[in-house]
Amino acid sequence: MGELERVSGLPLANFRDEHVDEQVARACRRLELDDPASLARVLRGDAGERRRFRRSIAISHTAMSRDPHQFALLEHDLLPRLLAGGARVSAWSAGCSDGSELYSLGILLERIGALDRALLLGSDLLEENLAIAQVGVFDGVSDAVRARVRFEQRDLVADGPPPGRWRLVVCRNVAIYMSPAARKRLYGNLVAALSRRGVLLLGRSERLIDPSAYGLRVIGPHAYERVGG
Ligand SMILES: C[S@@+](CC[C@H](N)C(=O)[O-])C[C@H]1O[C@@H](n2cnc3c(N)ncnc32)[C@H](O)[C@@H]1O
Repeated sequence: MGELERVSGLPLANFRDEHVDEQVARACRRLELDDPASLARVLRGDAGERRRFRRSIAISHTAMSRDPHQFALLEHDLLPRLLAGGARVSAWSAGCSDGSELYSLGILLERIGALDRALLLGSDLLEENLAIAQVGVFDGVSDAVRARVRFEQRDLVADGPPPGRWRLVVCRNVAIYMSPAARKRLYGNLVAALSRRGVLLLGRSERLIDPSAYGLRVIGPHAYERVGG
């Protein structure tokens, strides 16, 4: 796998073994190749296949307001808690894919009249996702929202969190594809990014087994608040 890791430019060891094996086997079948070494040779010479392979490993599926009940939780519970007393909110969409998640949050903040109190950052592993995010052509996204967001490339496992303390960290459907060791580093980095009483929202199939070990407490489905530090 070392050669595939080099050629694809992806930290394959951070993804679950079964997930990587399945995507490699699928690519080999489709390209009628016998083994990962042959796949690495093809990927080295073919930018289109390389892009396709990268996207298959770092699954980039997303959508505007994906899992609407989580956006309802943000609107009716998590954001009112963060915005109470006219406070500002800094929000980081960690593993933002093409930006849909962050733009959806921006639309929501605009609708509740809090966009001008928000700082919105999205980060992702794949530059190709960020290129789409930067353009930001999505239904319902106003110029005001577009002016509020910024995006950057970041490996959530290797690079750690962005500078500063964040009051809201949304990291949904990223941990599910990671190896146990990478997932542990990911959660450590997400928590390190949180301000005191900052809120972490995970995806609908993700939860922390022992939130208190991270200095967090449960405040809603897949939602946690930082209690210490
Ligand atoms: C399934 S998408 C989730 C997008 C969005 N959060 C959502 O729930 O709709 C997973 C995203 O995580 C990104 N990703 C995977 N591993 C990552 C890592 N180590 N660092 C940063 N982003 C990563 C992928 O590139 C992909 O865009």
